[in-house]
Amino acid sequence: MITYTDIAADQMICLQCGAPLIKEETYSCAVCHKDYQHLHGVPLFMSDEEEYIAGMAKQYADFARQKETELGELEQAFENRPYRQVYWQQLRKALSGNNELIGTLVNMLCERVSPAALLRTRSSSASAAVLKDFQYLKRDWCWLEEGELQLSEILGPLEEVISDAISDRENILVAGAGVGRIAVELCGYFEKVYATDLSFSMLWFFQQLLKGASINFHEINYANILQDTYVARELTASYHAPFSGYTLPEVSDKLFCYISDILHSPHKDGSISAFCSAYFTDVLALKLLLPEVKRLLKPGGVFIHLGPLGYGFEDVSEKLAANEIRAAFIRAGFEVVREEVITCNHLESELSMQTVSLKNWLVVFRKKEYVQRPIEDTTIFGVAEGIKYEVRGRLEEDIPMDQIMIRTAEGEAVIIAELAFDILRFLAAPQTFEALITHLDSCYEIEAPSMIADVLLHLESLKVINRI
Ligand SMILES: C[S@@+](CC[C@H](N)C(=O)[O-])C[C@H]1O[C@@H](n2cnc3c(N)ncnc32)[C@H](O)[C@@H]1O
Repeated sequence: MITYTDIAADQMICLQCGAPLIKEETYSCAVCHKDYQHLHGVPLFMSDEEEYIAGMAKQYADFARQKETELGELEQAFENRPYRQVYWQQLRKALSGNNELIGTLVNMLCERVSPAALLRTRSSSASAAVLKDFQYLKRDWCWLEEGELQLSEILGPLEEVISDAISDRENILVAGAGVGRIAVELCGYFEKVYATDLSFSMLWFFQQLLKGASINFHEINYANILQDTYVARELTASYHAPFSGYTLPEVSDKLFCYISDILHSPHKDGSISAFCSAYFTDVLALKLLLPEVKRLLKPGGVFIHLGPLGYGFEDVSEKLAANEIRAAFIRAGFEVVREEVITCNHLESELSMQTVSLKNWLVVFRKKEYVQRPIEDTTIFGVAEGIKYEVRGRLEEDIPMDQIMIRTAEGEAVIIAELAFDILRFLAAPQTFEALITHLDSCYEIEAPSMIADVLLHLESLKVINRI
C-alpha cells in the first residue's frame, strides 16, 4: 500500500498570507490559521475551497446531464434500427457506465458543499476535463500497447533531458499532472515530485490507483471504426502493470499530489528545481503562466515544456508560436538549454481508424542565476557596452505609445517602458542612484525610490546596465 508522507511540509506556503504551512492531519497556516482540507483524501490548496468544490460539482453535473440527454435522444434514434443493435447496445452500456462514474463524482462533491454555494455557481461550458480523464486514464494506466508506446515516446526524451541537463534533482513540480503517470515515472529522477492539477477527478482517480483500487470505465468511438463492436470497450485502469518486466519507480516517499491552480501555487518563491509542463503550456496564456514559473523556480532551475501548442482557449492573441515563447522566456531572464521536435501519436486507440500525430516541441529553459545586490544612494550605474535601441511606432492616433526595444551586446532583445528608456538615456553618462532619483523627480512624480531600484535591478539582471 502506498501512503503519502510529509515530504512537502517545508515547501508549502499559505495562499492567503504566504506564511509557512504546518502539516498535521492536514495543512494549516502557522500565521493566519487557515486550514487546507482534503477533498475525499486529496489535499486541496485553494483560497476559496467552497467556490472551487461548487464549481467542480456544477461542471461534472452539467456534463452528466448533457450525457443523459444524449442517451435519451439516442434511445429514440436507435429504436427503429434493429440492424444496428450491436452498435447501440454496446454504446448504451458504455455511456451509462461512464455516466454512473461521473454521477459518483458529483455526489462526492455535493456532499462537501452547501446548496447556497451551488446556487451561486454559474453554469460552465460542459467540462472537457471529464472527457479527458478517461482518455488519460486509458493512456496512463490501462497498460495498452498504444498507450505504453506513446508514453515511451514522451518519457524517453524527457528522461534524456533530465539526465543530461538537470543536475539539481531536489524536486520537480509537474503542472497539470492529470492522472499522474508522467509524475510517477519522474520519481525515478527526483527526490520529491509534486504532482498538481486543477481537476478533482483527475487527482482522485490517480489517488485511488495509488491506493491499489482499479477503475472501470469505457472508451467510446462513435465513428472511424472498422467493426460495430469497436464503438466501445470496457477498460480497467490499475497502478501495476499486468505484464511482468515493467516496474514503476518507488513513489511512496517521493510523490505528493494535490489540487491547486498552477497560477496560485502553495510553494515558496525560488523553491522548485524543475517545472514540468507536459501537454500543459498551451492550457493557459503564457503571460499568466510565466510569472508564476519564474517565481517558483530556484535560480538555475529549469522549465521543461513538452507538447504541441494547440491551445485550448479562445483568445487568438495569446496563442504564441514556439519562437515567441522562447523569446518571452529569454526576456524573463531564462536561457535555452535544449530544444528539439519529437513526433509521436497522441491518445491513440487501436480501435479507431484515426490517428493523431503531433510534432511535440521539447524545450528546456534555465532560469539564469542572478544574485541581486542592494542599491545604495552612492551606487553608480552606467549603460552596458554595446547596447542598441530601436523605437518603433505607428502613426495611427489610437496607438499612443511607441515600442522601445533594447538589444544587448549578446543580441537579446527586450521591450522596455518609457520610464526605463529615460533611465537609460540618463545613465549614458554613469550616475549615482541619488542623482538618478533627483533627475527623475523633475520629470515624473516618483513616490518610491524603491520602485526605481526595482527597475534598475531588472535592467541589471538583463545586463542592460551595470555598476561602476
Ligand atoms: C492536456 S491535460 C495534460 C495532462 C498531463 N500533463 C499529461 O500529459 O498526462 C491538461 C491538464 O491540465 C489541467 N489544468 C488545467 N488548468 C489548470 C490549472 N490552472 N492549474 C493546474 N492544472 C490545470 C487539466 O485538469 C488537465 O488535467
